[in-house]
Amino acid sequence: MTPKPTELITGIRELTTQADGAPRLADAALVIEGGRIAWIGPASAAPAADVRTDAGGRAALPGWVDSHTHLVFAGDRAAEFEARMGGQPYAAGGILTTVAATRAATEAQLTATAARLRREAEAQGTTFLESKTGYGLDLASEARSARVAASVADVVTFLGAHIVPPGIDRRDYLDLVTGPMLALVAPHAQFVDVFCEVGAFDVAESREVLLAGRAAGLGLRLHGNQLGFSGGVRLAVELGAASVDHCNHLEPADLDALAASATVATLLPACDLSTRQPFPPARRLLDAGASIALATNCNPGSSYTTSMAFCVATAVLQMGLTIEEAVWAATRGGARALGRDTGTDAVGALRVGGRADLQVLDAPSVAHLAYRPGVPLTWAVWRQGVRAGRRGPSPLPA
Ligand code: NIG
Repeated sequence: MTPKPTELITGIRELTTQADGAPRLADAALVIEGGRIAWIGPASAAPAADVRTDAGGRAALPGWVDSHTHLVFAGDRAAEFEARMGGQPYAAGGILTTVAATRAATEAQLTATAARLRREAEAQGTTFLESKTGYGLDLASEARSARVAASVADVVTFLGAHIVPPGIDRRDYLDLVTGPMLALVAPHAQFVDVFCEVGAFDVAESREVLLAGRAAGLGLRLHGNQLGFSGGVRLAVELGAASVDHCNHLEPADLDALAASATVATLLPACDLSTRQPFPPARRLLDAGASIALATNCNPGSSYTTSMAFCVATAVLQMGLTIEEAVWAATRGGARALGRDTGTDAVGALRVGGRADLQVLDAPSVAHLAYRPGVPLTWAVWRQGVRAGRRGPSPLPA
């Protein structure tokens, strides 16, 4: 068998691995072979490799794991955003604007937009991401959205239960989402999701959607407690969902339930800024013992960004997280929210034998992510050992 080319990345001043036991190393190096990490250790003891990349005293860390996006859509809602910044409240009904544009687009157009956003995310350090359906909301459009999502995202979530579209009775729509639509989309998806909120679906309806998804073999996630005390958090915990996302409005019982569960609270700070919602109580969640993830929620309505670094900086500067906590939540936290925190296909941490998904910052430490907010700090990104933005097999000679 021909040996696989190896790439040594050395000169790493601060290596955040997120691995249990040795989460951070100084003056480190690592070797990539066949898309996986073959060696991690002190730069002074690094083995030879076919290609050598000198990080020049920069910081390296796992690629971001963006566990909540809605990349399959057409059009934008800049006018709605502008009105909101003028004082209009955010409401679930805005979703229908994007549904109309998405239905009118071709599959090629949807794929091109989703792929562009994926590239945009990767150029900023995101190496693993989830995308939802949810702007089709009829049989053909949701099936098409699922195909597009599967072609650009690592994990696909079926969100037929985003809102009840016009022209169909509420009960009939629930029957569609939990029946024929689920059957069409499930082969392309790993999770089912529901928007449990006033103006979308109540707790009983959300339960029905999630149980149908579970019966079809999908994992569970839920949009909950974004605009009010929707009951979504406790439903997610009761059903053992992998994640409950948003969590802006939490009662003490919600905090207790999350702390006692394996359900990750996925926080979406860019969305909170863009919808002028209060930030979720991130500090209280962590202090209570809950697991949190940070994600972009990239979508044209409530959070049109692919920047995980922006979410990390906001979580530190506005939500009371330490740098270490925010970086963990945007890497291993995201992996946990997607059920990819352990096993051979784990993401969000750098371990020997694990996926070589990493980024090098144009900065000496991860602290700079919040210390220099808004500054593009991505220096290089490797996804499964392949340097982003480079064609052909990796590693390539410099
Ligand atoms: O996660 N909250 C529900 N869904 C999306 C927003 C959808 C939209 O406004 O288009 C979210 O914020």
